[in-house]
Amino acid sequence: MLWIEDLTFSVPDKDETGRSFSRKILDGLTCNFRKGGFYAITGPNGCGKTTLSRVVMGISPATSGRILLDGEDVTNLTVTERARKGIAYSFQHPARFKGLTLRDLLSIAMGTDKEEDFVRVLARVGVCSLDFLDKEVGPRLSGGEIKKVELATTIARNPRVAIYDEPDTGIDLWTIGPMVELIRRECTEYGTTAIVISHNEKFLEAADEIILMKEGRIVEKGTLATVLPFLKSLDFCSWKDLCGEIADVRCHR
Ligand SMILES: Nc1ncnc2c1ncn2[C@@H]1O[C@H](COP(=O)(O)OP(=O)(O)OP(=O)(O)O)[C@@H](O)[C@H]1O
Ligand SMILES: [Mg+2]
Repeated sequence: MLWIEDLTFSVPDKDETGRSFSRKILDGLTCNFRKGGFYAITGPNGCGKTTLSRVVMGISPATSGRILLDGEDVTNLTVTERARKGIAYSFQHPARFKGLTLRDLLSIAMGTDKEEDFVRVLARVGVCSLDFLDKEVGPRLSGGEIKKVELATTIARNPRVAIYDEPDTGIDLWTIGPMVELIRRECTEYGTTAIVISHNEKFLEAADEIILMKEGRIVEKGTLATVLPFLKSLDFCSWKDLCGEIADVRCHR
């Protein structure tokens, strides 16, 4: 369904002597995401997870490599063209829109103004109450609320591929379980391919496949049981500092 092939993203940089060089943020990533699959991408801060999602969405251009959606090469399409083809991206740090309400955002995402359509989506999402509809998606929304709005507007698009960049950031413990279930349901009932960037054990446990990144590369792929030894062996100093020895991936950020 979604196939990334030898994907590279480089930026111009300078070494200590002031000499210019090209720094690879993504270094030859190849991966297949099947229809209806639930994938978790994890790895230490700065390893390139958000960059990967931005390149797949078309926000940042790939330096080399290809992105295929159902066999069609979308590597050079714009963000809007990719969105029309069914790729959706839920930002790690969602934008706030002063003066716009959730109703406005859903209307744009779904192309309808029908109250019953909004209600149906909110019921599907289950994390937003109807009170949310006419709330301004502005600076007053809490960190968790803005992530829920982002999730709702992503799902409202009925995407073929949905990329969620750390959907659990700022989300209360009581909502994370239902959020995992919701994304899983979107995969099984609507055939959405879900790619969730997360460090949260609940997402790692629920995923069909975990993709472990380090320094711009995929270092391991597989179920939690397969990836676990690699998680333990990697010198993820920030994780170790925060969580002590990684014994059972029960690391909470
Ligand atoms: N356009 C750019 N120019 C220069 N550096 C960049 C650019 N985009 C990303 N980077 C760098 O690439 C690295 C990877 O960033 P990225 O945001 O993808 O990490 P991440 O894995 O999502 O981290 P986190 O877990 O903290 O969200 C970082 O060091 C970042 O500063
Ligand atoms: Mg990130």
